Amino acid sequence: MIRKQETRSQSSVNRDGPDRLLGENLSFGASEAYKLLRTNLFFCLPTDEGTSCRVVGVTSSVQGEGKSTTSINLSYMLAQDGKKVCLIEGDMRAPTFTSRLKLKNEAGLSHILAGMKANTQEIMCSALHPNLIVISAGEMPPNPAELLGSMRMVKLIEFLRKMFDFVIVDLPPVNVVADALTVAGQIDGMLMVVENGSTTKRELDDAMHRMDVIRDKILGFVITRAERTKGKYGKKYGKKYGYGYGYGGKRSESGSARSDSSDD
Ligand SMILES: Nc1ncnc2c1ncn2[C@@H]1O[C@H](COP(=O)(O)OP(=O)(O)O)[C@@H](O)[C@H]1O
Ligand SMILES: [Mg+2]
Repeated sequence: MIRKQETRSQSSVNRDGPDRLLGENLSFGASEAYKLLRTNLFFCLPTDEGTSCRVVGVTSSVQGEGKSTTSINLSYMLAQDGKKVCLIEGDMRAPTFTSRLKLKNEAGLSHILAGMKANTQEIMCSALHPNLIVISAGEMPPNPAELLGSMRMVKLIEFLRKMFDFVIVDLPPVNVVADALTVAGQIDGMLMVVENGSTTKRELDDAMHRMDVIRDKILGFVITRAERTKGKYGKKYGKKYGYGYGYGGKRSESGSARSDSSDD
């Protein structure tokens, strides 16, 4: 297992480079796939009158499957669609937002949850799009699961619900730590990231078993690094990496909303 995780992170260093995987730098195909994910999210979580904000968690079975990349790009696409979005880096054990999004603010979620920063707005920063506000993980605390499950987290989400159309929470992997489940009560839906060619059936089974308690909240699966396919008109859309999305726990043969990214 440890070897596998190392392989995942090492291979990420030699990939296209983080910039090409985020926001406006995404290839046409990847960008289209994230837009499709955005549309499917609107269908899966329609707003009731009076409750306009939707809170969505993003998790996976183990580290390195593309949770943060998915959270960031989904947030970006929602922001591009005119939605006010708050992206929270809930994975306080393996934070990447500060470096990937080039954030200046050192303080983050851990500081709010530990009561070290009373003013939440002070630690919010804008990234990638004017409609997108980010709360990074902050300094790594000794007790992330406890903090995520705390009353301060409940209050933070309540506060953000009043300000945003979407709150996206990038969470740690469920097979490794319990953090993602401690926050499940505060979210409206959970997206499960699966890495094509890497996540094993056993890892996914294990994750689904752990998530059984929040079964009703699981919205579907996002498949990262999906293999390229030909476009509708035979045009080659993808070259190396792709993204996909499936409904209700399995991808149907015809209903799969999967599409591939282009590196051309
Ligand atoms: N669809 C993808 N195609 C290619 N590389 C990806 C993809 N999604 C993520 N990555 C890369 O894989 C590495 C791990 O992704 P990340 O989103 O940080 O995973 P996690 O948050 O699940 O640990 C990063 O270097 C990222 O750039
Ligand atoms: Mg991550």
